[in-house]
Amino acid sequence: MTEQNKLEKIVSLCKRRGFIFPGSEIYGGLKGTWDYGPLGSELKFNLKQSWWKYMVHDRENVFGVNAAIMMNPKVWEASGHIASFTDPLVECKICNERFRADKQEDIKEHEEMHAKKKQKIAWTEPKQFNILVEAKLGVVEGEKTTVYLRGEITQGVHVNFKNVVDSMHPKIPFGLAQIGKAFRNEITPRNFVFRSREFEQMELQTYVKPDEASAMEVFNEMKNIRMQWYLNLGIDKNKLRFREHAPDERAHYARAAWDIEYETPWGWDECEGVHHRGDWDLSRHGEFSGQDLSYFDRETNERFIPWVIETSGGVDRALLFFLLDAYKEDEKRVVLKLHPKLAPYKAAVFPLVANKPELVAKARQIFKDLKMTSLNIAWDDRGNIGKRYYSQDEIGTPHCITVDYQTLEDGTVTIRDRDTMKQERIEADKIVNFIEDRSKGF
Ligand code: GAP
Repeated sequence: MTEQNKLEKIVSLCKRRGFIFPGSEIYGGLKGTWDYGPLGSELKFNLKQSWWKYMVHDRENVFGVNAAIMMNPKVWEASGHIASFTDPLVECKICNERFRADKQEDIKEHEEMHAKKKQKIAWTEPKQFNILVEAKLGVVEGEKTTVYLRGEITQGVHVNFKNVVDSMHPKIPFGLAQIGKAFRNEITPRNFVFRSREFEQMELQTYVKPDEASAMEVFNEMKNIRMQWYLNLGIDKNKLRFREHAPDERAHYARAAWDIEYETPWGWDECEGVHHRGDWDLSRHGEFSGQDLSYFDRETNERFIPWVIETSGGVDRALLFFLLDAYKEDEKRVVLKLHPKLAPYKAAVFPLVANKPELVAKARQIFKDLKMTSLNIAWDDRGNIGKRYYSQDEIGTPHCITVDYQTLEDGTVTIRDRDTMKQERIEADKIVNFIEDRSKGF
């Protein structure tokens, strides 16, 4: 298996096994959009839940926000996205297809395609293209307002800074977290869910005192916290690294920026960004809204505009990297070695054979009892046991439980481990403890 065909294999597995489908597929699709199917939704839900627990519940002074996607258009003027949220774009003069001028590999690939047809390519000069997605809001034709689908989830947090301070009275430094959809008119969506036009972000904005030492302390701590989250969920540490942005590479709001990168089949690429946003957001929203967005520190009796240290990760990107990392195959099987916390199903229950009513009844009772716990459990009675193991390995189910004749006699079942393929016999009423024990560590 080469690295590039690993991505193709993941795309095919995701479609075949109900993880991710092309968006609006029956109508010929919509470029840059993807729909999550039954198993993909579970995986995504587990990933977001793990992020929320680790970044919000496990920390003091971190609160959640869930802001509207549609916001007053002035937000995007204040945030600088209308003026500066641009990518340099070039257009092929033969077929009018547009590419990001800074993505040399895409341009080269396109040139090679034309060269094979013996066509001599020419490009337009690069021009800046705003990637905010516009929408029209309102019911009266001619009086509709242009709004923007949020280009980053961040602004929904900053515009609520005053509301949170007034209602929760947090002590600085404190954090506001959000997970939600963002939209960008990406010029060249590609690499499956890596770069799409609709995607989800998970972000923590930490408000700190406006001095470089406090800000950099939180910045460096945040880099390590975020790296640790990926490692805790089992990603190969050799496939992750930090990379500092060069000054000309940083977003318009960033005073310092580091990415966490993953080694993808197409090379090292961005997974998440940690940004020092200074007072950019609160100052600008204060200025554009006319509201006082300062913070009064009761300990020092000082009033100031806090600075912001942000960590911003892509849910879909992280999910893709977890899939790429977990995908293993040998001559006998394909297995997704997902961390048990992420796996869509924690276990699958089988009757040894499907045509013995007493075995099926016992297996269904165990299945129903397990479903009433916090675990998501699958049922499978198709084909033989070997085929069922194969099928569950391919979707990353960590445990398979078989109910056989001995179960009817002594209440024990066999439980098979996805990674080692070893089987043990345990009492049916110990299954939950057994599974939880093996998912520990995070
Ligand atoms: N609030 C800061 C911000 O939005 P960003 O670097 O533009 O910063 C943060 O985006 C993260 O969002 C990226 O590291 C990536 O994981 C994810 N992301 C950005 N654009 C994306 C796209 N077109 N498709 C999928 N994920 C994307």
